[in-house]
Amino acid sequence: MTRYSRRVFIVLEGPEGGGKSTLAKNLAARASECGFTVRLTREPGEGEFGKRIRQILLDGEAMVSAAELFLFLADRAQHVQTFIKPALELGEWVICDRFADSTFVYQAIARGLDADFVRAANTFAIAGTEPDIKLLVDVPAEVGLARRADRNRIDNEPIAFHEQVRQGFLQVASESSVWHVLDGTQAAEKVTETAWQAIQNRINGVP
Ligand code: TMP
Repeated sequence: MTRYSRRVFIVLEGPEGGGKSTLAKNLAARASECGFTVRLTREPGEGEFGKRIRQILLDGEAMVSAAELFLFLADRAQHVQTFIKPALELGEWVICDRFADSTFVYQAIARGLDADFVRAANTFAIAGTEPDIKLLVDVPAEVGLARRADRNRIDNEPIAFHEQVRQGFLQVASESSVWHVLDGTQAAEKVTETAWQAIQNRINGVP
């Protein structure tokens, strides 16, 4: 792999059960083997602040969609300023399991909150910390949900919600070349290989 000295910010997005967490770990291992310092993280849930918000969001009781939106955004604002941005400024790699597009897809597309407001709120929360590459791990809703052993509050939404999430991600990913879509029904090793190739191409400037 060509040596790359600048920061690299990779986000993994997609419906439930696509294998994002496994992919994130595998990519972090690959990057470490190449000598890069890698921070593997996720949203929601980094640090004590993130863990507590995650608990309210996913293990707690029902909440109105606006409250859900602001909790995800609070987690993101804190995460960007205290974790992601400082790491990138040191020239490290950050691999983040879910980021701003999850908010757009889940809270605007699937929950139906105002899309312009959600876009603007996301822009405010990330404060210019844009990913270099976005990997969409695509999987049909029923396949992904069947893989989930411990279901959280959002996993328990009806299948139509999760199908909307899937279509939402595919739609968003079709709108920008920052995305690379992966087939999450393939074996984990194959998905990792394809993703690693996409990352190398991106950082080496291959279209
Ligand atoms: P996960 O970490 O297992 O993917 O769970 C996080 C859940 O939260 C998942 O159902 C997606 C959802 N989510 C949102 O609805 N909006 C967001 O902004 C983020 C980051 C996650």
